[in-house]
Amino acid sequence: MSDLFQLIGRKLLFKLDPEDAHGLSVKTLKTGLVPNCAPTHDPALRVKVAGLEFPNPLGMAAGYDKNAEIPDALLKLGFGFAEVGTLTPLPQAGNPKPRIFRLVEDEAVINRLGFNNGGHDAAFQRLSARQGRDGIVGVNIGANKDSTDRVGDYVAGIRKFYDLASYFTVNISSPNTPGLRDLQARESLKELLGKVLSVRDELAVRSGVRRPVFLKIAPDLPDTSLDDIAAEIALHPLDGLIISNTTLARSGLKNTSNAAQSGGLSGRPVFERSTIILAKMRQRVGANLPIIGVGGIDSAKAAITKMRAGADLVQLYTSMIYQGPGLPARIVKELSAVLRREGIVNIADLRDRDVDDWAARKTPD
Ligand SMILES: Cc1cc2nc3c(=O)[nH]c(=O)nc-3n(C[C@H](O)[C@H](O)[C@H](O)COP(=O)(O)O)c2cc1C
Repeated sequence: MSDLFQLIGRKLLFKLDPEDAHGLSVKTLKTGLVPNCAPTHDPALRVKVAGLEFPNPLGMAAGYDKNAEIPDALLKLGFGFAEVGTLTPLPQAGNPKPRIFRLVEDEAVINRLGFNNGGHDAAFQRLSARQGRDGIVGVNIGANKDSTDRVGDYVAGIRKFYDLASYFTVNISSPNTPGLRDLQARESLKELLGKVLSVRDELAVRSGVRRPVFLKIAPDLPDTSLDDIAAEIALHPLDGLIISNTTLARSGLKNTSNAAQSGGLSGRPVFERSTIILAKMRQRVGANLPIIGVGGIDSAKAAITKMRAGADLVQLYTSMIYQGPGLPARIVKELSAVLRREGIVNIADLRDRDVDDWAARKTPD
């Protein structure tokens, strides 16, 4: 399937506006006529993180399936888990188009979508319809642009999807909603984590099921902010971090036509930056807090590098735009092959081997 994509699919899709191409991909996956290319489960890839049993550590990152239309199709492609959203309480249109730009030479994308999504109710209906099906589906929650109570929007997300989400991601790192990233500052984070996690704890007692909550952070944070976030996390029952969202940095790009577009950059150029931040956070939070590594993963080798730098699980988005829907199954198969070749019993054994090396690197300017 991937060869066919490389030969025909990519050429056709890349003739379309990136957002139209994305819409077409989602529509195609929505038909349900997706060949089940998930590799058979390999016990060496199975990992238990935050109380959940992942069949493999590779997930679909947030933003691909913003409205929870195709989580099962994504799982069929070979992903070990799928994250839907970002979902905001009310539907919103996002920023004016065009708002996604390809940087083909860099295998990267710049987006300034601004949380375009159909809102909680529509996604709730869809996720309710799949209730009871197997597969780990996380729900990524955010705040409406015009909200007068942003923290309240996150709390509403936890309440709305508590029975349907395998886990939650509190996304405070999109660069495309003005002021959102300010929630990463210590005092704001304290209020946010306090309120979100106390509602989760209340619902956990009531339902008897404790849903993990992860916090997704930006790759553009200075060491002092990383210190603050780690210190605040230590005071709250957070279940993990997702590192990272897109970057505002533009260093080292080959593309000259789209590099100046505003928005968040993702794909290959964000790999190094996001991996350094991941390792720095692993050093700060210690060995026990789960971390999901995201940013520029485009191969089994890149996934392993993230895990060696401190990740328990990994996610990707942009590389699938460039390499097509066969990519997750290819990566998962290759992960199995690498483990077999190197005599590694379980992929979790690779975690943290290179944390100090990565943490010592200088973030690109
Ligand atoms: C078009 C696009 C839309 C995205 N939308 C979201 C989103 O709604 N919520 C979120 O948390 N991250 C979003 N992301 C960020 C990705 O989840 C991921 O963190 C980032 O792209 C880095 O991974 P990658 O290099 O594999 O793409 C989006 C990324 C892209 C390219």
